[in-house]
Amino acid sequence: MITLVFATNNAHKLEEVQAVVGDRFHILTLAEVGCNDDIPETGNTFEANAAQKSAYLQAHYEYDCFADDSGLEVDALGKEPGVFSARYSGSRDMEKNIDLLLQRLGENPDRHARFRTVISLRIGDREYFFEGSVEGDIGFERRGTGGFGYDPLFTPRGFSKTFAEMTAAEKNAISHRAIAVAGLADFLQRHY
Ligand code: IMP
Repeated sequence: MITLVFATNNAHKLEEVQAVVGDRFHILTLAEVGCNDDIPETGNTFEANAAQKSAYLQAHYEYDCFADDSGLEVDALGKEPGVFSARYSGSRDMEKNIDLLLQRLGENPDRHARFRTVISLRIGDREYFFEGSVEGDIGFERRGTGGFGYDPLFTPRGFSKTFAEMTAAEKNAISHRAIAVAGLADFLQRHY
């Protein structure tokens, strides 16, 4: 059994990763290794933030580990909100974050955007990155009640429903996070 710490306390993320990597890997959360720290996340890119979080964890807890960072990039806004996705409006209130995004985009017809996830995995002194992204378009108003975050605004290319109108299974079949996690799982299964 190989033990890895995942830099999260989000039960939903843990469940998703554990299901994909399988029983040979035991994934621990931050709480399970006694980490209550506010892990620094000061990078300008998803890569830098994921790497910063995994480096912190490995340095302080001496486990092999991985960390993820995700967000939404809207082309017409210079790839904002990007690493500021969770606090775009200055607060974690997603209603405010969505309102600000809609206000900044206004009637701009260029609605092209993507969700991206980057995972940094550290095993011993090696670091590996896995990435997933999904292209889509930002709506003019919210649609749907499922999912979280910016899901009510985001319609993936080739689909007519927003992420918030999809079932969890429909979203997980194409999402940025699922693609990155699949890359991680494939790597772990082939090399460990
Ligand atoms: P995290 O790095 O996974 O915590 O994601 C940071 C922020 O990006 C979240 O707080 C959301 O606002 C946004 N985000 C990331 N993934 C998704 C998604 O699948 N749907 C909607 N919003 C997302």
